[in-house]
Amino acid sequence: MAKTKTQFLCQNCGTVHNRWAGKCDGCGEWNTIVEEDPMGGIGGGPGRAPKKGRAVALTTLSGETEEAPRVFTGISELDRATGGGFVRGSAVLIGGDPGIGKSTLLMQAAAALSRRGHRIIYVSGEEAVAQVRLRAQRLGAADSDVLLAAETNVEDILATISEGKRPDLVIIDSIQTLWSDTADSAPGTVTQVRTGVQAMIRFAKQTGAAMVLVGHVTKEGQIAGPRVVEHMVDAVLYFEGDRGHHYRILRTVKNRFGPTDEIGVFEMSDKGLRDVSNPSELFLGERNAKSPGAAVFAGMEGTRPVLVEVQALVAATSLGTPRRAVVGWDSSRLAMILAVLEAHCGVKLGNHDVYLNVAGGYRISEPAADMAIASALVSSLAGAALPPDCVFFGEISLSGAVRPVSQTAQRLKEAEKLGFASAMLPATSAELPKTGNARWTMIEDLPDLVSR
Ligand code: TYD
Ligand code: MG
Repeated sequence: MAKTKTQFLCQNCGTVHNRWAGKCDGCGEWNTIVEEDPMGGIGGGPGRAPKKGRAVALTTLSGETEEAPRVFTGISELDRATGGGFVRGSAVLIGGDPGIGKSTLLMQAAAALSRRGHRIIYVSGEEAVAQVRLRAQRLGAADSDVLLAAETNVEDILATISEGKRPDLVIIDSIQTLWSDTADSAPGTVTQVRTGVQAMIRFAKQTGAAMVLVGHVTKEGQIAGPRVVEHMVDAVLYFEGDRGHHYRILRTVKNRFGPTDEIGVFEMSDKGLRDVSNPSELFLGERNAKSPGAAVFAGMEGTRPVLVEVQALVAATSLGTPRRAVVGWDSSRLAMILAVLEAHCGVKLGNHDVYLNVAGGYRISEPAADMAIASALVSSLAGAALPPDCVFFGEISLSGAVRPVSQTAQRLKEAEKLGFASAMLPATSAELPKTGNARWTMIEDLPDLVSR
């Protein structure tokens, strides 16, 4: 018999290496490479005669199409993030840090769906039935008809969900606990997780049930993360948030059936997650408008405007190398703005520590926040508060010019709705809305902003 050759797989990103190494070349993580059997004992393998192919009929792009049939949960923020509900026959991956609230969200979704007459099976591999029941009681979901199983073996799960019940939606919590008899590797490894997920996706495609897979994001330890299965599923949602805060954000990073830039916002309470339909009010709720270093950014999340406060603290350093610490934003973008401030505006921060924080544990990904950040930095350095009723947005280029951003009108409308009377925005912005009393100030470049 031919000797089976093993591979070395990164448990974080799935990159294949020829030999063991301390650091993965693919994702740069340390201590994530584990030796695995590449076939994982799944059929195939050397020595089996290749099967002769069967030709399939080719077709054209035009022809009958149908809207993807969906199951609506009625939880508006969840339906928004999935692009209008879970799609039948598809697989969705919900990733997130342990303890962020994935099981809570899905238990609420399951209860809401079953109240709407759908058949839901919740398979928990992490908690015993009693624990899941306890959570359901807390969430007021215990009276719903969700069917429950505590199981981790892939073959047993498939047998259970195939057996007569014909579920509309199956929840697997979590993929890291799945293990299959057909794969030789240890539970939690890339091979096991992929084999299990593949089997679940096949079930969804064959039966038309929607499959929801939970995956923990792991920073360290030898458990395969959700990234190794991202390409296999139809949609990927990440549940984010700060443990110290009550807000949770469900962010779509991949969606074959809808937009990818939507977010759902939730608030964690003692009775589970609650929809937050106006996130701006939440993020501005604890505002301290009179302190220097705080600027309100008018951002966009998909089709929805989100106003959020950015806070900067600039203080003389006592260290040789000044500290730069960023929460909720990209640290290399902060470095860029500091460089532009220094090069074009004569604002010297080389002897200052710079701390930057986005309020409420929110994370900004838009470059449009540049102007708000620059304003907060200058305000903190000068020790003077910014006008409390002003919002900022605009991208800053390396030359110091302020570049226009998309959806100006929506940003301004939201700001006006929330009582902001003025805005600083790029000079070249088109599509300015007509307003009542609000003042829009057009900014050409960063020196122009600093001088105001
Ligand atoms: P959980 O859904 O178990 O997280 P995950 O499945 O992502 O690991 O959520 C766990 C946290 O949520 C836990 O710290 C307690 C908190 N929680 C509440 O605050 N309120 C609630 O009603 C529930 C059920 C949990
Ligand atoms: Mg859980």
